[in-house]
Amino acid sequence: MRRRSLADLAPAELDGRRVLIRVDYNVPLSGDGAVADVTRIRATLPTLLHVMERGGRPVLLSHLGRPKGTIMPSMSLRPVAPVLADELGVPVRFVPSTDTDEAVEASCDIGRDEVLLLENTRFLAGETTNDPALAERFARLGDVFVNDAFGSTHRAHASVVGVTEFLKPSVAGLLVQRELQALSGLREISRRPFVVIFGGAKIGDKIGLMEAFLERADTVLIGGAMANTFLAAAGASTGRSLVERDAIPVAERFLTSGDRKLVLPTDLVVADLEAADAGSAKVVAAGEVPPDLAALDIGPESQGAFAEVVRGAGTVFWNGPMGLFEKPGFDAGTVAVAVATAECTAAGGFTVIGGGDSAAAIRQAGLSEAVSHVSTGGGASLEYLADGSLPGIEALDPA
Ligand code: 3PG
Repeated sequence: MRRRSLADLAPAELDGRRVLIRVDYNVPLSGDGAVADVTRIRATLPTLLHVMERGGRPVLLSHLGRPKGTIMPSMSLRPVAPVLADELGVPVRFVPSTDTDEAVEASCDIGRDEVLLLENTRFLAGETTNDPALAERFARLGDVFVNDAFGSTHRAHASVVGVTEFLKPSVAGLLVQRELQALSGLREISRRPFVVIFGGAKIGDKIGLMEAFLERADTVLIGGAMANTFLAAAGASTGRSLVERDAIPVAERFLTSGDRKLVLPTDLVVADLEAADAGSAKVVAAGEVPPDLAALDIGPESQGAFAEVVRGAGTVFWNGPMGLFEKPGFDAGTVAVAVATAECTAAGGFTVIGGGDSAAAIRQAGLSEAVSHVSTGGGASLEYLADGSLPGIEALDPA
């Protein structure tokens, strides 16, 4: 996957030019609509600074959430603009449209040391279907295309893949380059045992890729909402826990193939799903979740067992939290895995955390610096590790 990168462009290719940069600002928003975690915004600063220092004018495209081609004000990128301005120390102008004449005019008006952020690409119907007409309209927004949206490189969408047909040069940003370098260390797996930890939601996206991990990993630990789907597939009572019914047949297949590498939690912390009140939480055996309660974390016995496996690993890849870690009282499983991953790193292991929620969890635990690499891409890092290629990277100019 050797592709031309931003660092390969001559200064003249950037100076005075509009640089259309696809970023991944699919950031968590808090209840009042404010940006709750700046990791993904911060991760793009080297690319933005590189472009601006060479006289380029950044025009930023991103998606946020899954609005399915309709305008959903709760998924506007507007709240990102002031946060980016603070992080970058330059004005960020927000235009509330994406493929319009208004957006093109704004792209031609960007001053030196100014950034333009456009509205959510997924408000437009053709984005996720990679509509060439939309891709061509995106291409009118810049003179050069840079893909720095590592977290979206597994999506063959118009602002990631289609646009590269209409805008040259199309190159990889510095974040994408850094991510690929770090993750290639996981494809080689020089230190064993290789332990993979799966958790979190978006189960349907992940479960299909698990086969590749089962082949290469020595142990696969499953927690979080993913564990509920496996427990349901095993016929256990899961109460009101988050279970992805569509993914049950695949989970059943993994279970019946009797792969002994798979480790499920043996106990769970359960509570009322809506209240998620730690005061009323209790620990039950996995598979015995009362009908009116939901599993919101792995239990203490599972925390100890998972941590022991992780501590003894040579290589670790962790995708997805073990429970509702953002709520006090339901973060112990995620913290136990985070601490064990840091301990593994300190003992010489190579450890990578993938995904927005896992990255936020490791930051919350204050351990981001204590692991080998924190990837900004969940699905993207999984797909790269499983397949060795990503559509958003393949589409860029060859090196
Ligand atoms: C992510 O959060 O993993 C990326 O932004 C991709 O989002 P998506 O799964 O909605 O395509």
